[in-house]
Amino acid sequence: MAPSRTSQRALLMSAILGLASAVALPEKTAVPAKVEVRAPIVTPAAIRFDSRHSYLQKKDIINDIKSGVNGIAQSWGSRIGQDLPSFFTEGIPGWFEGLPTGTQVLSKLGINDGDLAAKPTEVLNVPPYANWTEQGWNVRFHGNVYKFPDISQSKVDDLANVFLIDTEVSKLPPDQQAQARNLTRSIFIVQQGDRNVSMSLEPSPSQGGDGEPGGGNSIAAPGGVQNFTLPYETTDQGDFDVFVPIQQNGLLPGTGSNTNVQRLNVYTNGTLSGNATAFLVPNEGITFISDIDDILRVTKIYDPKEGLLNSFARPFTPWLNMPDVYRNWSSTLPNNTHFHYLTTTPEQATRLYMDFIYKTYPGGSFDTRPLNFSDVSATLSIRMFLLKKVFETFPQRKFVLVADTSNSDVMKAYPQLAHDHPNQVQCILLRNTSATDPDMWFPYNTEGFKGLNSKMYMFFREPNDLHGLDISNGQCLNATIPQNVTFDRQTDGKFRLGSAGATLQGSATVSFIVALVATMVMIM
Ligand SMILES: *[C@@H]1O[C@H](CO)[C@@H](O)[C@H](O)[C@H]1NC(C)=O
Ligand SMILES: *[C@@H]1O[C@H](CO)[C@@H](O)[C@H](O)[C@H]1NC(C)=O
Ligand SMILES: *[C@@H]1O[C@H](CO)[C@@H](O)[C@H](O)[C@H]1NC(C)=O
Ligand SMILES: *[C@@H]1O[C@H](CO)[C@@H](O)[C@H](O)[C@H]1NC(C)=O
Ligand SMILES: *[C@@H]1O[C@H](CO)[C@@H](O)[C@H](O)[C@H]1NC(C)=O
Ligand SMILES: *[C@@H]1O[C@H](CO)[C@@H](O)[C@H](O)[C@H]1NC(C)=O
Ligand SMILES: *[C@@H]1O[C@H](CO)[C@@H](O)[C@H](O)[C@H]1NC(C)=O
Ligand SMILES: *[C@@H]1O[C@H](CO)[C@@H](O)[C@H](O)[C@H]1NC(C)=O
Ligand SMILES: *[C@@H]1O[C@H](CO)[C@@H](O)[C@H](O)[C@H]1NC(C)=O
Ligand SMILES: *[C@@H]1O[C@H](CO)[C@@H](O)[C@H](O)[C@H]1NC(C)=O
Ligand SMILES: *[C@@H]1O[C@H](CO)[C@@H](O)[C@H](O)[C@H]1NC(C)=O
Ligand SMILES: *[C@@H]1O[C@H](CO)[C@@H](O)[C@H](O)[C@H]1NC(C)=O
Repeated sequence: MAPSRTSQRALLMSAILGLASAVALPEKTAVPAKVEVRAPIVTPAAIRFDSRHSYLQKKDIINDIKSGVNGIAQSWGSRIGQDLPSFFTEGIPGWFEGLPTGTQVLSKLGINDGDLAAKPTEVLNVPPYANWTEQGWNVRFHGNVYKFPDISQSKVDDLANVFLIDTEVSKLPPDQQAQARNLTRSIFIVQQGDRNVSMSLEPSPSQGGDGEPGGGNSIAAPGGVQNFTLPYETTDQGDFDVFVPIQQNGLLPGTGSNTNVQRLNVYTNGTLSGNATAFLVPNEGITFISDIDDILRVTKIYDPKEGLLNSFARPFTPWLNMPDVYRNWSSTLPNNTHFHYLTTTPEQATRLYMDFIYKTYPGGSFDTRPLNFSDVSATLSIRMFLLKKVFETFPQRKFVLVADTSNSDVMKAYPQLAHDHPNQVQCILLRNTSATDPDMWFPYNTEGFKGLNSKMYMFFREPNDLHGLDISNGQCLNATIPQNVTFDRQTDGKFRLGSAGATLQGSATVSFIVALVATMVMIM
């Protein structure tokens, strides 16, 4: 049986980083070893992924696969030549999967615990949201406690090169080098378990950065100053994620129809790296839950070579005039409007995402992928898990869900939420990525939309299609944008499955070959 899509994805990074053996090593701590099952089978790689090789040369790769080169066809079984594996057609190869954590980082870098002891403790404090309950405000603090090990610049560059195709860090312009090194350092951190985390809160006068001030007319909280320690220590992987009822100390309540979102600054005791803005969200109003890749920024996640450069090296770039659309929503919708950015990018990359969003889009709370969601079943369920938590926290709010069609989790989770919570989902707005990007050749599945009111969702082509929608009154569809929803797998003529095999057109071929190589690495 071929390994599942998720296991392929989970294997990618561990395979290319040569961590395949490290993951099986027992943890070097006093705590009983917790063996983390990341993937079913790990056999030595027949083809090593090396960013300095040009895979584009290998035009005959599909034939190689069909004829069983390196035994790959055997693991894919008879599907090759007839159909592509479902992880190909239902999802995007995930190069951010299976990143090393904790002791894996140490063993990979040959560093011992002693060298780390003297390093300062750092805290990633993911911008929280809070709901209003009978006990007052209830804030969801989540994030990670970690340390930076010493890694030489040349080692950082070697590690960064693994994430690039057809290029290397030394060949990039200086700003891109800086970003590739920044992200690589953020990935190779050592998470700190069993730590107590203490926070202090105070009013947040401004959102910070040059972006929109807090979404939907949020205001500095008129109080709330306090210090406290989270009720639990961090998990083995350094994560914390807990709702804490905070003291009122002058905060406004979250009831009433036109209550503003209130902002609090959150500081973490003992480090300058754990600052965040918390958003106290009233019971009623509209929350925009927005994915980030390929909807708020240009990622081209469906084109691995570009996707890797856009994620690891190039400065994040907004997608067309999408910031104008959000700015208009933020400034014209009622005061209780809230923005929540929910991406399944692993938490190690969170700072770059936050930095970009706060410079470009309205302020709001965040969710990224916590570390305990790296095993196979959890990877599949992470988006739904995070979305459900927001829905449960705000049972009276209405949600506008925004993302793009290249994301298979979204294509399942968003319509499912609309079926399960018909009174909470106001609109689903999906960028039809194939309409504007010929490189987007991954099929997407619209089956989940069957049975939903066709006026509550829209597949749009470009940000201007969203202009003038009366979101407050539930207008989600711009009647001038043709909708072609078949409630089935949609290929938009770019990619066909059938007995003759995959038919690819134009530039899709290049993407396809690169993607295939990335995928081969995943299988091995
Ligand atoms: C990387 O960049 C982010 C965003 O600009 C910044 O907050 C962070 O401190 C940088 N991290 C490192 C390790 O340089
Ligand atoms: C964390 O705080 C609790 C409660 O004060 C205490 O019992 C525990 O020992 C602390 N843990 C560490 C690692 O300091
Ligand atoms: C909305 O909030 C602003 C402050 O940001 C306030 O001036 C205005 O009166 C509020 N509007 C309503 C209708 O409450
Ligand atoms: C909170 O802790 C900070 C130091 O971390 C201290 O300066 C401040 O006075 C404390 N505030 C309260 C309200 O206890
Ligand atoms: C991850 O941790 C959170 C809270 O820390 C927990 O609610 C969740 O169930 C965990 N997920 C998995 C897959 O273990
Ligand atoms: C805050 O951190 C300092 C050391 O950085 C420590 O002495 C103090 O006890 C901490 N306060 C709390 C409330 O954890
Ligand atoms: C966090 O806030 C403190 C207090 O305002 C400030 O000194 C520090 O520079 C901030 N840290 C970062 C990374 O901005
Ligand atoms: C607030 O959020 C918590 C955590 O999701 C949830 O259990 C609770 O029901 C919410 N309270 C209200 C009043 O919505
Ligand atoms: C609909 O989309 C068109 C084309 O992008 C745009 O010009 C128009 O402003 C949008 N809004 C409405 C309400 O028609
Ligand atoms: C801005 O948003 C308001 C309220 O949603 C809407 O009425 C208006 O047409 C929008 N303007 C543009 C240019 O989209
Ligand atoms: C997306 O755009 C493509 C290309 O214009 C079109 O063929 C397809 O039908 C559109 N999908 C939907 C769901 O409207
Ligand atoms: C609608 O989608 C189907 C299947 O994806 C496609 O064959 C057809 O050409 C599309 N029609 C339009 C008008 O885009």
